[in-house]
Amino acid sequence: MKMKMKAILSVTALTLAPMLSGSVQAGPSSNVAYTVDTINMIKSADAEAGKQKAAACGSCHGAEGIAPNPSWPSLAGQNANYTYKQLVDYKDRTRADMMMMGMVMASSQQDMADIAAYYATLPLPAAKEASGDTSAADVMVNRGAADRDTPIPACKACHGRSGEGQWVGVPSLAGQNAAYTKGTMMKYKNGARGNDVYSVMRNIAKSLSDDEIGALADYYAAMGN
Ligand code: HEC
Ligand code: HEC
Repeated sequence: MKMKMKAILSVTALTLAPMLSGSVQAGPSSNVAYTVDTINMIKSADAEAGKQKAAACGSCHGAEGIAPNPSWPSLAGQNANYTYKQLVDYKDRTRADMMMMGMVMASSQQDMADIAAYYATLPLPAAKEASGDTSAADVMVNRGAADRDTPIPACKACHGRSGEGQWVGVPSLAGQNAAYTKGTMMKYKNGARGNDVYSVMRNIAKSLSDDEIGALADYYAAMGN
């Protein structure tokens, strides 16, 4: 009896600790693998149903997926595999955000696939006015920086020539709110966001200065339609 009680207590402590600290728990960076089954489920998801299921999301992400607050991400035009993975990651708490965890707590995998499919049908956000000098960011995006202690690959190698991303789960960055992009890259840099498989973005962000991150965020915001 005593043993059993102790076991229950330690399990509770284990589940609560990462919730309370808000930190990313040790373990896999994501439980989502882009298997054929997962990709097929997202491909055949119901965007119309997703539109209904996303009704509660519009207050922050916009009725057409364009977030009115620059610190919040736009979702319009984002590739469905990426959006699906983020929703599952919030639900699994491998991407820590108390508000988003709450939003998807009751969602099934099918709900999340439908919602992701819906947002993918909307047009990407419009390009914002370029701010400041973006020439250094342009070099980083198109050529990277081979001379760093940890060499930085060109962003376009993965995120595409026009920041359009790739269907295998590399997000589109074009027209995204700069304050959000900067914020999420700072989270990769300080480890608050750790749902990137193989630490691909954490390693890159750690090799960038805060100013470079800001300039890259402005650069991508000014891309797009
Ligand atoms: C109260 C405001 C709010 C509501 C409502 C909300 N979100 Fe969010 N959402 C946010 C914020 C803030 C973030 C950024 C959190 C972070 O930094 O991880 C976010 C992040 C996201 C992301 C990650 C985007 C990316 O580019 O990585 C997705 C996907 C998302 N939300 C989908 C949804 C869906 C689907 C719903 C409705 C079921 C929803 N959100 C409801 C505020 C909200
Ligand atoms: C080797 C491929 C690769 C390279 C190079 C790369 N990225 Fe990424 N990036 C990814 C992947 C994959 C993700 C999605 C991680 C996940 O599933 O959560 C991502 C996510 C991001 C996000 C989060 C987007 C969002 O909506 O939250 C930003 C911002 C970003 N990358 C910016 C950059 C910038 C800027 C560069 C260049 C300095 C860069 N990336 C280089 C693969 C790459």
